[in-house]
Amino acid sequence: MPTSGPPSRLAVLVSGSGSNLQALLDATAADPGFGGEVVVVGTDREDAGGLARARDAGVATVVQPFTDHAERSDFERALLADLAPFEPDAVVLAGFMRILSSTFLSAWPDRVLNTHPSLLPAFRGAHAVREALDHGVKVTGCTVHLVDEQVDHGPIVAQEPVPVRDDDTVTSLHRRIQTVEHRLLPTCVAALCQGRLHLDGRHVRLTPPG
Ligand code: GRF
Repeated sequence: MPTSGPPSRLAVLVSGSGSNLQALLDATAADPGFGGEVVVVGTDREDAGGLARARDAGVATVVQPFTDHAERSDFERALLADLAPFEPDAVVLAGFMRILSSTFLSAWPDRVLNTHPSLLPAFRGAHAVREALDHGVKVTGCTVHLVDEQVDHGPIVAQEPVPVRDDDTVTSLHRRIQTVEHRLLPTCVAALCQGRLHLDGRHVRLTPPG
């Protein structure tokens, strides 16, 4: 599906409230030079709050419940088929809580981005904020990375720290991390769409906007 130049047609996958999707929708609408637009929002959950955000923005949605499928690969193939008519040339995982294998990822080599609420490689997985808090770290943060076949593992595009406060709860800490994600994720997606994201092995270099 990817074209030879930088991507411009974004599929965004969500499972939850979709605040990162909203940040992306707002960023693409605000900046004529962003270089990409969200052409479809996909989800594994019929109750994902992100669906309403997509509809409000006039963006097409597809729902592919994970639980409709006996095998992960069946789910991934069904999701691929749902997205295909929109011809996305990059995918953004914005709070998408399903692991994706090469069945899905091979359709967009080095063009699937994820945002994760920790400073990877610390605290991979679905409970990163709670685990950081439980571990007693003083600084956590967020990471935007390219997705490979291992969970929260692919090449790191950008990271930003968020200090942990003595009185933080999972909710308060996650809220502050998300505030940073809402800026960092669109910045990284814009870099991808503007051809400013350069990959060399595990190393990503972002060149400044021209
Ligand atoms: C984000 O913090 C993301 O890093 C994590 O799930 C959260 C999704 O939030 N994987 P939202 O649905 O974008 O509000």
